[in-house]
Amino acid sequence: MSKPKVIVSRRWPEEVERHMQDVFDVQLNETDAPMTADEMKAALQSCDAFCPTVTDAVNADVLGVDSPTARIIGSNGVGFNHIDLDAAKAAGFTVTNTPEVLTDCTADIAMNLLLTVARRTGEGERHVRAGEWSGWRPTHMMGTKVTGKTIGMIGFGRIARAMAQRCHHGFGMKVLFHDPYPPSPEDAAKLGATACDSIDDVLSQSDFVSIHCPGGKETYHLMNSERLAKMKPTAFLINSARGDVIEQAALIEALNTGTIAGAGLDVFEGEPAVPDALKTMENVVLLPHLGSATVETRVAMGMRVVDNLTAFFNGETPGDKLV
Ligand code: DGY
Repeated sequence: MSKPKVIVSRRWPEEVERHMQDVFDVQLNETDAPMTADEMKAALQSCDAFCPTVTDAVNADVLGVDSPTARIIGSNGVGFNHIDLDAAKAAGFTVTNTPEVLTDCTADIAMNLLLTVARRTGEGERHVRAGEWSGWRPTHMMGTKVTGKTIGMIGFGRIARAMAQRCHHGFGMKVLFHDPYPPSPEDAAKLGATACDSIDDVLSQSDFVSIHCPGGKETYHLMNSERLAKMKPTAFLINSARGDVIEQAALIEALNTGTIAGAGLDVFEGEPAVPDALKTMENVVLLPHLGSATVETRVAMGMRVVDNLTAFFNGETPGDKLV
């Protein structure tokens, strides 16, 4: 039997690409250049499985291509706000993602952002490298203590819970959260976490607010100027989820006016563009969407796509089927 034809939109870790070459008739993207909408349409018309990643806009236009041969879209990433699931379902595509395998590393990056912005370690590193350090003194580069403070989570899915584990059990923090689908009180208690009735309750009580909800229409600009104004002026906002959950212009304004104390951002509205206003602020930590970027996790994500495709082509329901 001939191998299914699979088209991959970007470079994947070498170990995964080699494995894919063994099990599929795979077309890799050796240049790693992002695919245009027309290239994605052509892919859907010439393969059995198309494998985009979280930066490929697999929208209704792309999915509405005439006479597709592809039957499954195996996305490499947990977030799926880049895929129009309704259009995919209407066009008869199966869509899968890669949950679970990136939970710990994304929580690690959220914790990293929190510590870096609170303790000013990015700023400190730049200071040393610039040769500006003149020595220890009692008032030098004082930051904000993390241990024992209160963290508020917006969304309390897998990554938020892994973050809560780190915050509560590692740093003795009090954990608050709001999620329309909360865990059982027993599961929340294991993480030292308390549910709040509203997002505003979380914002007003937290020293750190960490965003963990999915992106997409329902959460677009959820953190707008009104919500930012509900935060304590001493509080920090952390985002390792999706950039457009925060209204970026409102965030810049809130940072400029001292409405909040600082921000740690791994994702941006309109990334990879990052506004110059953010780049010049020392109370802001900026990372290039590194949440899942460890060798172990990126290999596991790729292998998870392979597992989903393999199940599909064996006539089974893929473990991570979204539609
Ligand atoms: C995802 O998988 O959705 C992440 O944003 C990639 O790190």
